[in-house]
Amino acid sequence: MIILKSAHEIEVMKEAGRILAEVLKALEEAVVPGISTLELDAIAAHLIEQAGCKASFLNYNGYPNTLCISVNEEVVHGIPDHRVLREGDIVSIDGGVIYRGYHSDSAKTFPVGSISQEKKKLLQVTEECLYRGIEQAVEGNRLSDISHAIQKHAELHGYSVVRDLVGHGIGQSLHEDPEIPNFGPPNRGPRLQKGMTLAIEPMINLGDYPVEVLANGWTIVTKDKKPSAHFEHTIAITDDGPLILSTLNSENLL
Ligand code: MF3
Ligand code: CO
Repeated sequence: MIILKSAHEIEVMKEAGRILAEVLKALEEAVVPGISTLELDAIAAHLIEQAGCKASFLNYNGYPNTLCISVNEEVVHGIPDHRVLREGDIVSIDGGVIYRGYHSDSAKTFPVGSISQEKKKLLQVTEECLYRGIEQAVEGNRLSDISHAIQKHAELHGYSVVRDLVGHGIGQSLHEDPEIPNFGPPNRGPRLQKGMTLAIEPMINLGDYPVEVLANGWTIVTKDKKPSAHFEHTIAITDDGPLILSTLNSENLL
């Protein structure tokens, strides 16, 4: 069941998203060669607490940290540890906050120092995939129009779309209906309606799409060990089109 949100609830989720965007901005500045992923996690934990929020992921199904931090061939759900980031790495940072009972969920992949052209393009195209998906989040479209737009853009550039993980509805729970695959034919699934709040999150691989889980039970990596990127926003569908909530200045896109 898809839970529609009122204008008031969307305002609360906008504030949750703004706080999360501040956290991700601070993390972007902290991403330098030599920092450990656990240090990045501590920065986020501190900022989230200071903002009077709770971290969405901490203790979720037993998840042990504030952030998911995934490096290079790690796709998502990397667990922060003493690993140090090195020049040339790419690092996907996924965070979630709960503000007044409502979640926001957002991720970005950052370069560590200077990175290869190949990785730069992967980051750029994956972010474009996210925006192609968001542009389809308008009343009257169907859910898979989002999925299809993402896949089309990724494959146009010769990349592959991870199949095993999907985006999701979001609100008073981190994961609500509907599931939002990042691939598939257009014009399928539920009609999109005003009041839907969605976390759209393409995970795009430089190589092939199969992934596997590491022995820690969490970290997802590409089977071919080639790099992967992940960009995610929490958005709301409004009368004026898609509204990105997990951003510093929430404005309608269309
Ligand atoms: N953005 C991810 C998701 O939507 C993060 C959740 S991971 C967990 O699924 F740590 F919370 F489990
Ligand atoms: Co998510």
